[in-house]
Amino acid sequence: MSTPIETIARKRDGAELGRDELAELIGGYAREQVPDYQMAAFLMAGYLNGFTRAEAAAMTEAMVASGDSLDLSGLRGPTVDKHSTGGVADGTTLIVAPLAAALGMQVVKLSGRGLGHTGGTLDKLESIPGMRVELGERAMLDQAERIGLVVAAQSGELVPADRAIYALRDVTATVGNPALIAASVMSKKLAGGAAVILLDVKTGPGAFMKSPESAAELAGLCVDIGAKAGRTTAALVTDMSQPLGDLVGNAVEVREAVEVLRGERGGRLTELSLVLTGHLAALAGLVPGPDEGVQAAAAALADGRGLEKLRAMVEAQGGDAKVLDDLSLLPSAPVTLPVLAEETGWLAAVDTEGVGRLAASLGAGRQRKTDTIDPAVAVELTAKLGDRVEAGAPVGAIMAAVRAAAERAAAGLLGLLDVGPDPVEPPPLVRGEVRA
Ligand code: URA
Repeated sequence: MSTPIETIARKRDGAELGRDELAELIGGYAREQVPDYQMAAFLMAGYLNGFTRAEAAAMTEAMVASGDSLDLSGLRGPTVDKHSTGGVADGTTLIVAPLAAALGMQVVKLSGRGLGHTGGTLDKLESIPGMRVELGERAMLDQAERIGLVVAAQSGELVPADRAIYALRDVTATVGNPALIAASVMSKKLAGGAAVILLDVKTGPGAFMKSPESAAELAGLCVDIGAKAGRTTAALVTDMSQPLGDLVGNAVEVREAVEVLRGERGGRLTELSLVLTGHLAALAGLVPGPDEGVQAAAAALADGRGLEKLRAMVEAQGGDAKVLDDLSLLPSAPVTLPVLAEETGWLAAVDTEGVGRLAASLGAGRQRKTDTIDPAVAVELTAKLGDRVEAGAPVGAIMAAVRAAAERAAAGLLGLLDVGPDPVEPPPLVRGEVRA
């Protein structure tokens, strides 16, 4: 039995911690016996000194053990889950989950809130008037039985340790560590009960893992943890060197996802959503391979089945489904200011993390655990890497609560774009795949 102080000191001094001491610390924190300041010190020590694979697995196990797990074995059809490690304008869940459900998969997904510079699916969903994301276990299972689709918060009973640690990491600059991310993601996925787990591990300046090597390390950690727990687990390493969609915020990302599901938007968000759904279908054994899966996903998008699944989920979770027909019912910001390019050339680089932070600074994310977010504020960046931009022409827009904030953010956005004199190749969307 170690005290929290002993465990923190051992991590500070670079020791590898054992399963039991990690279980005591993490379990104690979930039971509110360990205070925030000790957990914050532990997280920072681990962030700086790193964790071994065995520690990552032990932290995952302790987090799963802090609460209940869902038993999805009674559901008809393959149970699947997908999780992004966090990106900017990454609204794929709002598209992939309904498409997968439309293809006959059972999707019960525990999602997160915004973290650091990245957005969170729960915050986005809550911008739909009336939408509930805090569902009890029974309600989640009932909903899955009825419509095959649930996206919800880990309730008080499911992975309470991750729920608490996640919020603390967000405000203590301890997010971007592969073992902490793997334990957070995989504890939710294991407790969520799905037989098939697909990770979307982001890499690039807008991801927590900036380099493809560190993203591959995180992908390997997650796949290993999933496979050891007996789940069919795979990961795609995907590009986050620019925002995935055009819109960064909460209500706007719901709008963009609905427009994708209506067939009104192409681009990288749509493309990646189809690829992820296609891989899920293949891992679930519904199609021979990912290519056939992508075709099936594209068909479910084209004939509106994905949109109807999203509608069923919004209705089941108390949301106003009229939003899907009339997007003006979503919260909208009082001020919209176009952002005009200052120079002519090719968009060569985007400080994508900066774009996420800019949206957060407008109110789309949190600075403190207790902050509430403004669902309406947003950054729009329509220019993509490799695009030709013309001085004076719009590259995006700011949606803000007041004009002064919009003007500040517009200047800030231009400072995050690097426009060069030479043509640039857009980066590949999928950079690799990791399987057990
Ligand atoms: N997503 C999670 O669920 N947890 C993390 O730590 C990062 C991204």
